[in-house]
Amino acid sequence: MEQQHSEEVLILAVESSCDETAASVVKNGRQVLSNVIFTQIDLHSVYGGVVPEIASRKHIEKINQVIEEALWQAGTELADITAVAVTYGPGLVGPLLVGVSAAKAVSFAAGKPLVGVHHISGHISANYIEYPELAPPFVCLVASGGHSHLVVVKDYGEYEIIGRTRDDAAGEAFDKVARAIGLGYPGGPKIDKLAREGNPDAIPFPRAKVAENEYDFSFSGLKSAVLNYLNACRMKGEEICRADVAASFQKAVVDVLVEHSLHAVKEFGYDKFAIAGGVASNSSLREAFEKECAKRGIDFYHPSPIYCTDNAAMIGAAAYYEYKRGVRHGFDLNAVPNLKLGE
Ligand code: KG4
Ligand code: ZN
Repeated sequence: MEQQHSEEVLILAVESSCDETAASVVKNGRQVLSNVIFTQIDLHSVYGGVVPEIASRKHIEKINQVIEEALWQAGTELADITAVAVTYGPGLVGPLLVGVSAAKAVSFAAGKPLVGVHHISGHISANYIEYPELAPPFVCLVASGGHSHLVVVKDYGEYEIIGRTRDDAAGEAFDKVARAIGLGYPGGPKIDKLAREGNPDAIPFPRAKVAENEYDFSFSGLKSAVLNYLNACRMKGEEICRADVAASFQKAVVDVLVEHSLHAVKEFGYDKFAIAGGVASNSSLREAFEKECAKRGIDFYHPSPIYCTDNAAMIGAAAYYEYKRGVRHGFDLNAVPNLKLGE
């Protein structure tokens, strides 16, 4: 039975698009009653990246347990839930299918409506959890392992992408550079930590601009520049200061993300700016935005690191607004690995 008119909307949300098996119960889009995340990082780090087949198998093993735990920690039962939400794309098809199938099964068994959510919409909505007063419109930078998007959030669930990466995503660049300097997977947090000991101005790595769209990003040139620098040092027999490489690379990424984002905020005439996605937990990125936004009189929003990397609470937040505007999916909902934002 749908509780459309009841004031309290409790969403049970499921997220499994990559290597986190996650479930959460979120009240009225903003209040997280539980946020259970089983991270598979240790399983994949020996391979230097996520192995889709291994991820799928682990999701299958963990998904029911994680959902039960989320309900239990929230002090709720299925009967209390208003709707079941799930990420149905973009992401890895096998992992996505596990979450979608589980959510469909719970939705069917409990007789609760099903709401499919776009993963990026989830990342952006993590800001609503952290900032109860935040309302669209605003500009959001989504920087994760798979995406680097500059998005105008026109309304809840209404997005316009104004910039995107032409090649590697920001997180992907972090992961590849980390591998090259022997830090392992996932690279972002490791570079973040090591960079604190290095000099960000030690090596002049390039800041790429994309001629056709000033809001687009390109990180593959920077990645190649780092690899070339490492090779040149090795050939000359020079010692490599990994902390300097990490700090200089990180500064190059941060400079570009800050410059493009704040240029967009100004040009599009907004006064609110948010960040989202795994890379948004980078300490240097957060500091740079904090400083630059304050200088320009822009309100800056940044979710806690736990809501930046993949989690299901953000899916529950996004799903609330989808639910409110009547979005319901049927049991034919399928995983869509390359789902576009706004579809
Ligand atoms: O959002 P997320 O958990 O998954 C995707 O949707 O892709 O993002 C994961 C990415 C990885 O590339 C990881 O290296 C990066 O976010 N990341 C970071 C940091 N923490 C995670 N990058 C830079 N600094 C961090 N502290
Ligand atoms: Zn993500």
